[in-house]
Amino acid sequence: MNDLIPPHTTGESVFVDDIPEPKNMLHTAVFVSSIPHGKIIRLNLEKAKESEGVVKVITFEDIPGENQVGRIIQDEELLAEHKVDFIGHPIAVVFAETKKDANNARELISIEYEPLPAVFDAREAAKNGSLIAPSRTISLGNVDSIWERCETIVEGVVESGGQEHIYMETQASLVIPKEDGDFLIYSGTQNPSTVQNIVANILGVDMNKIEVDVKRLGGGFGGKEDQATHWSAICALGAYHTGRPVKLVLDRQEDIIITGKRHPYSTDYKLGLDKEGKILALEAEYYQNAGAAADLSTAILGRTLFHVTNAYFIPNVKVTAYSCRTNLVPFTAFRGFGAPQGMFVMECVLSHAADVSGIPIKELQEKNLLDERDQFPYGMRVENTTTKRSFEQALQDSKYEELKLKQFEFNETNKFVKKGISITPVCFGISFTSTFMNQAGALVNIYYDGSVNVSTGAVEMGQGVNMKIKSIAAQALSIKPDRVRIESTNTGRVINTSPTSASSGADMNGKATEIACQIIVERLREIATEKVGEGEITFEDEVVYLNGQKTDLVWEDLVNEAYLKRVNLAAQALYATPGIYYDHDKEEGKPFAYHVFGTAVTEATVDCLRGTYKFDKVHIAHDAGKSLNHLIDLGQAEGGLVQGMGWLTLEELMYENGKLISDALATYKVPDVHFAPEIKVKFLENVENPYAVLKSKAIGEPPFMYGIGAYLALKDAAKAFRKEKEWSFVAPLTNERLLFFLYDD
Ligand code: MOS
Repeated sequence: MNDLIPPHTTGESVFVDDIPEPKNMLHTAVFVSSIPHGKIIRLNLEKAKESEGVVKVITFEDIPGENQVGRIIQDEELLAEHKVDFIGHPIAVVFAETKKDANNARELISIEYEPLPAVFDAREAAKNGSLIAPSRTISLGNVDSIWERCETIVEGVVESGGQEHIYMETQASLVIPKEDGDFLIYSGTQNPSTVQNIVANILGVDMNKIEVDVKRLGGGFGGKEDQATHWSAICALGAYHTGRPVKLVLDRQEDIIITGKRHPYSTDYKLGLDKEGKILALEAEYYQNAGAAADLSTAILGRTLFHVTNAYFIPNVKVTAYSCRTNLVPFTAFRGFGAPQGMFVMECVLSHAADVSGIPIKELQEKNLLDERDQFPYGMRVENTTTKRSFEQALQDSKYEELKLKQFEFNETNKFVKKGISITPVCFGISFTSTFMNQAGALVNIYYDGSVNVSTGAVEMGQGVNMKIKSIAAQALSIKPDRVRIESTNTGRVINTSPTSASSGADMNGKATEIACQIIVERLREIATEKVGEGEITFEDEVVYLNGQKTDLVWEDLVNEAYLKRVNLAAQALYATPGIYYDHDKEEGKPFAYHVFGTAVTEATVDCLRGTYKFDKVHIAHDAGKSLNHLIDLGQAEGGLVQGMGWLTLEELMYENGKLISDALATYKVPDVHFAPEIKVKFLENVENPYAVLKSKAIGEPPFMYGIGAYLALKDAAKAFRKEKEWSFVAPLTNERLLFFLYDD
């Protein structure tokens, strides 16, 4: 029996909105901007204040500390002061006895704006010089001198759209005022320490006055890395002014409209091949639509630049990226954190090069896959690469050659239905690219009955990190996993945590847990020696061994003995990923502890009369290292794949003058079980990663990029219908867009 699934399936798992409501709790309604850019001329709150059940209405003027939620760059007011920069920008907040009272009062707020010109397109913003930060360029070799040696040169544009997270649990927070001006915050955040820090700044108090507790999230996917903070800050302001507990849970539609999404990108590319199909050079410019504030955009831009070559070695690279300020809701972290956008471009560009050179895509990919010691454009060299192994494994498992023959026959004999196949190698770097963030803490407490409580900085958001940490602790202590309980993530127990993101939650917090357990094991070893005598003491299955011989001393007795001897049965540890560094001026270093590799083969069928399509099967060969938990990793691989497929096919953010019109699940389509193909995941065998806990590898983000194969399998099928027509690399490839390719000239 595992302890993650049962409470979820029986509905017993407690999320923020399930916490029994404290007495006197107030409800919250946030009044937001309805225009994309403009000055606030007049704001009238009088009617709202007099409305039934209303206890308090606040604006920026009621913020005792600093009105700022920007972390990397301080450019985002929590509550707009004199100007709004996007539709959804919070301006005022109503706190009332019931949710209905709060919503009714919000309707009574009136506002007048003086509209300002708004920009929604990244390239247009760049042209106006409206950047979040100076552009960044990474280069290797010399692209300028190489073009004349190229046999094939392709140039073009790739567009990829944004993506809404659709976590099952919307943004939520409950803030409870305690004595002496302290606050306890239950927040649906991936990032408890940032909530603690920002709330402290907004209230103008020290961080030690704020305790943030996170039991679990109903999904995060990056959407709660920095953007869960606002709602906790708003509730904290309510609690500060009224002295009463305050809750805010966004409605689904509200959440879709006013919270950030994956960044849309627009990219210019130029790629050169020699006669044999070796890639000689890549030059590209990436325009990232950052929205109205920095949020995490600059970090996301960095990860794009680190993944521009995906799983290939390219000797000459020059890539520049621009983070462009527009008047949309600030875009934010989303599984892959900018890497998918860079890798999608690489796979599109190779596909284009295959079309022009006549060299089959499989050959092009195979010829350029990373070899051991190959250099990435940012200087790091590839190590323990399973790129080629996973490529061959995926081809073998999918019976690729046979598949191609069958596809050819099928497409010859079917006029209006075509099959498409794609291969998608993936190479993804593991570690936060901001080196200092690669740290995690753990606190292990052993009670005198032998049961264990583990606290770490990792947030459980359905990815199974708690189960992984539980098994790491059990292994390190040589006890049954049943004895280990994973505590909520709490800023009072584990401090200064990095967000649970960058796929590194289990890696780093697991390692910290292992170290803390080892500290206690050393103390227990001394007690064991006193009890069973001198010699080599080992632990196995809750029993103490002396010189390899089983003794009568078992875990419970050993722990109790330690307690009676007044030995410390608690240990705290910090893990800081070793060996990583990055020089931002030179744009080179070793930003990642290691890389994750794998390959997907995707099969699709397109109805060329209707533009509809179906994904038949996806074979994945994936290097998960020595997996910490096979089922969890399988779930992440399958879920990541389908989420990636959705990004590039179904999911379309449609705006009208900066207003999101695909703002509900009726108009924004996400993949479901009917959309999902048959998925076969093979984890490579005998792969041990020396750079993560128990020789495992991170799993959260890398499989997302297998979804790129969905787009290129559709292209392959569509090109079988319109052989001569030039493809334009625009995603998402919705049914409508595909139909336009098939028929519109
Ligand atoms: Mo994740 S996109 O690194 O929260």
